[in-house]
Amino acid sequence: MAEGAGDSAGGGDPEVQRLRRLFRFFAATQCRGRSPVYEALSEGVAGDDELLDLLMSAPGEQRRPSLLLAAVNLLLASNPGSALAGYYPIHGGRRPVDGRLMPAFAAFCAEHRAELGRLLRTRSTQTNEIRRCVALRLGLDHVHRRWPGPVALVEAGASAGLNLLLDRYRYRIGGQEASPEDAAPVTITCEVRGGIPAEGILGPVPEITCRRGIDQHPVNVADPGARAWLEAFIWPEQVGDLAVLRGAIDLAVSAATVTVAPGDATTDTARLLEELPGNEPVVVFTASLLSYLTPDARTAFAAQLRQAAAHRPVAWVFAEAPGLVATTDHLIAPDGPLARRNSLYLVGATLRDADRRDDALLALADPYLRWLALAREKTDDFQWLPANAG
Ligand SMILES: C[S@@+](CC[C@H](N)C(=O)[O-])C[C@H]1O[C@@H](n2cnc3c(N)ncnc32)[C@H](O)[C@@H]1O
Repeated sequence: MAEGAGDSAGGGDPEVQRLRRLFRFFAATQCRGRSPVYEALSEGVAGDDELLDLLMSAPGEQRRPSLLLAAVNLLLASNPGSALAGYYPIHGGRRPVDGRLMPAFAAFCAEHRAELGRLLRTRSTQTNEIRRCVALRLGLDHVHRRWPGPVALVEAGASAGLNLLLDRYRYRIGGQEASPEDAAPVTITCEVRGGIPAEGILGPVPEITCRRGIDQHPVNVADPGARAWLEAFIWPEQVGDLAVLRGAIDLAVSAATVTVAPGDATTDTARLLEELPGNEPVVVFTASLLSYLTPDARTAFAAQLRQAAAHRPVAWVFAEAPGLVATTDHLIAPDGPLARRNSLYLVGATLRDADRRDDALLALADPYLRWLALAREKTDDFQWLPANAG
């Protein structure tokens, strides 16, 4: 299992080779500059055939670096004295990344291989990033300017539904407070880039008549096991993010107003919207959903929104990789420069009723909404934002 063991070993199994490339890509594009521990581990796993083989126990569509890292993280929570936990600040570790990290990871995986295999076979990737409420609020502001009045809110791919509690959180955007009056002590922070003053970026949250989520694997945060699994997707250095997630979960458990129904967004969204009471516009929010869908499924999801808009006004507010947005509904040019900036998320809104459609790009942002750059016009291609902005 030596590190660097191999680009040729793992056989020529194309799936193992794909995972190897995926871990290297993940290290370079997601972890570098954000998580020294996950960057080192992802590079290490890419060169370790036994660990790649361990991830092969997961169903094909679930084989992602984050699944293996979360499974290990979950077990670390009950093994805080292990050598590996010593590198994870979220488990009280203080040791900087060094040459013993990867051997500690490999040893931990070997010791817990059976349990890890079980988790990888049966669990799916689950994250719920409430910073993305900033994207939702930008979208709601935009919708409210076009369609003043109350809206119904649906999140497709809602996970635990924590984004549906958007008006219960405090916001600090570019250092400015923009909180609803009765917000709970869970604070979402987001930096503003692009030289636009942060003041007034978020307007008041419009009246929301009902809130529904739909997810293929909804997370019931009242279940301690499901909660622990969601928390396992927090990265080793993100001590503050873990506290925010725990605060949001506590809020969701005590509020008990959020329901996330099991269902497939690509086949069940139109029906869900038809069953909603009232006739006010519906805002359908997606954040980090499209990357889970095949190209055909993305097209099917766009068709669901079009179908629903024949009956009542529907706005799709999204925070998604631009290249994937480009494949849904010609919202941006698939061959344009924006469609290639897939290490960032595009925030935008498409408003539709029976006979009109209005598209607007609102911001380009870090995928976890740690920062955003507001669009300067509704068809902005963000060429003014430096390529290394992420
Ligand atoms: C990365 S999580 C994002 C969760 C939440 N939107 C957020 O931003 O924190 C993606 C979610 O999409 C769900 N999902 C994936 N494919 C789906 C589908 N076809 N229909 C409904 N949900 C799906 C997953 O189960 C997961 O909960």
